[in-house]
Amino acid sequence: MQFNNLAFESENGIGVLTFNRPKALNALNSEVLSELKQFCEAVPSLDVRCLIVTGAGDKAFVAGADIKGLSEKPIAEAGATAEEGQLAFRALEELPIPVIAAVNGFALGGGLELALSCDYIVMSSNAKFGLPEVTLGLIPGFGGTQRLSRCVGQGIANFVTLTGDIYPAKYALQWGLAVDVVEPEALMDVCRKQAATLASRSSTAMHLSKRAIREGYDLPLREGEALEVKLFEEAFASEDKVEGIAAFIEKRKPDFK
Ligand code: CAA
Repeated sequence: MQFNNLAFESENGIGVLTFNRPKALNALNSEVLSELKQFCEAVPSLDVRCLIVTGAGDKAFVAGADIKGLSEKPIAEAGATAEEGQLAFRALEELPIPVIAAVNGFALGGGLELALSCDYIVMSSNAKFGLPEVTLGLIPGFGGTQRLSRCVGQGIANFVTLTGDIYPAKYALQWGLAVDVVEPEALMDVCRKQAATLASRSSTAMHLSKRAIREGYDLPLREGEALEVKLFEEAFASEDKVEGIAAFIEKRKPDFK
């Protein structure tokens, strides 16, 4: 797969998708978002069991929507501009495989929204994050007003969104935005090790777990439980369940297909 702004490589079932516009700190223009959507559509045909998303260069994960691109958009295209980002990030969020955001530098605006669309975030200790949209007279448009509060709660989401300030990685850990903060040199190794663990799990069970958590989040508890029953039944009927339980009983590692 060849893209102008994304680089992709994979080894042993672990894919690394790199946002690759370092001169613009990997900012997201329409072309990048369209490439991300195309990439997500192609994922089921790739031999990848876990994906790591990161940014090229040592300065930025993704510094947001491309501000120069935004300045050229007519008012009539504002809604479509936000939806373009939302659709691309939804495609990433709904991938059947686990996705880890390896945040290696600035994750601002659309960059933080991108990280929030991954299953979880690991940050390097020199990463910085925030939603600076209010400093531009804008609000987050790629899902940030919705996903940040779901991730860290409304109070902290209000604080980050309304201040528009840029925060160091240690706050991401404190606020439950990132699961880990590691030295910059260790970031990709840590993520690859986690990805290898995920790649060894049942892909069917991980996909169903992702669906149960994501689709259940906005449901009342009893409806969420009903969804869980339905997805549990699917897992129960899967070949992976037969293999996983047999492996436990036979005291060996499961060999999931
Ligand atoms: N869009 C376009 N270009 C960007 C960019 C962005 N979001 N962020 C950085 N760049 C470009 C800069 O214009 C600069 O390019 P030139 O060398 O051609 O001038 C290059 O990347 C390097 O950036 P800086 O010189 O500014 O680097 P710095 O170290 O001084 O500052 C920074 C780094 C604090 C991240 C600063 O670049 C910055 O504040 N960037 C904008 C961050 C931002 O506001 N993001 C939100 C965008 S709006 C959004 O995302 C809306 C949404 O939800 C849909």
